[in-house]
Amino acid sequence: MLTIATEVPLARYSTMRLGGSAAFAVAVSDAQQAAQACRWAMDHGLPFIVVGSGSNIVWRDEGFEGLLIVNRISGYEEVAQPDGSVLVTAGAGENWDTVVERSAASGLTGIEALSLIPGTAGATPVQNVGAYGQDVSQTLVSVQAYDSQTGAMVSISNQECRFGYRASRFKSDDRGRFVITSVSFRLGWGSIQPPYYRALQAYMDEHGSTDTSPASIRQAVISIRSDKLPDPAKVANNGSFFANPIVSQEVFDTIARTLPELEIPHWPADGGIKLSAAWLLDQAGFKDYHDTATGMATWHRQPLVLVNEHAADTAGLLVFRDSIITAVADRFGVSLQQEPELLPVTA
Ligand code: EPU
Repeated sequence: MLTIATEVPLARYSTMRLGGSAAFAVAVSDAQQAAQACRWAMDHGLPFIVVGSGSNIVWRDEGFEGLLIVNRISGYEEVAQPDGSVLVTAGAGENWDTVVERSAASGLTGIEALSLIPGTAGATPVQNVGAYGQDVSQTLVSVQAYDSQTGAMVSISNQECRFGYRASRFKSDDRGRFVITSVSFRLGWGSIQPPYYRALQAYMDEHGSTDTSPASIRQAVISIRSDKLPDPAKVANNGSFFANPIVSQEVFDTIARTLPELEIPHWPADGGIKLSAAWLLDQAGFKDYHDTATGMATWHRQPLVLVNEHAADTAGLLVFRDSIITAVADRFGVSLQQEPELLPVTA
């Protein structure tokens, strides 16, 4: 039996805590309920949107004239494989950090650097969550889901997810098609190997730590993140608000030529040069920036994180966002892309 609520404030389902309301909302706790909820929406001629904990979602002020499906599917299982690895399967509604905590406590390596990332397990493949040198595409085996197009439960392999940097088919071509019910990872015994991500290496050097066990890396990542990023339970935010832009070598050379006085942080990346969005914001004057007009700010320890201090609505957030995009484009000719999803896709 589904219990469908009406006129539900969407701010509850976004860690930015802004947005209008959903005409209908339902929480689902197993795959069968997820399928039922989709069918209910389709039978009523309504669109549906599935959410986990809303840590990467910005809701429009206009709200959503459809069914919000809140994924509360739980479960955690470790199954030893013949090759010595362990298949970890987590319900899509499980808190992601709890999944990381459990697997690291079991001594399993593969997702420990993804500690303390807010959100649910089922949300991780959508944007190929990554941090400190790991991303879920490196260990994910399959995504189990309800396919609303065919009405079938399906298993989607890693390759079929079409992962890219902060990208997958769930966020592009097949946005809104699947309800992810569980996610499986192949984890191993042992530990991550050098070279370590810069911030991680710096932490280990500073603490004279040589222990690279999953539990120890997890503790290091938790320290680094808690020091740099706001806790979404206390400060309304969506983590990194912009993706790190990837530009062509020519564009990079032009920027470097135009601004010879700057040492521009950059890294080779698929198809070009990756720039640091945090650095671009910093240089454009947005470090620890508090905008009284919109009630928005940038986090003092990491400008890439936009925080809602006392914004009245999403419109204010969007004005603030656009002022940053414009300033960075004016200074560097680079166009920043918003990383959290603005939903519904069209108002
Ligand atoms: N920087 C500055 N000024 C600052 C802070 C940072 O110039 O005030 C520059 C530095 O050059 C630094 C660089 O930004 O080296 C990169 O910073 P950091 O290592 O913190 O990583 P990031 O690229 O800003 C990405 C992810 C984070 C993830 C971290 C750690 C994106 C968009 N963001 O941030 O993910 O935690 O790496 O791996 O890829 C998220 O997606 O919500 C998120 C927090």
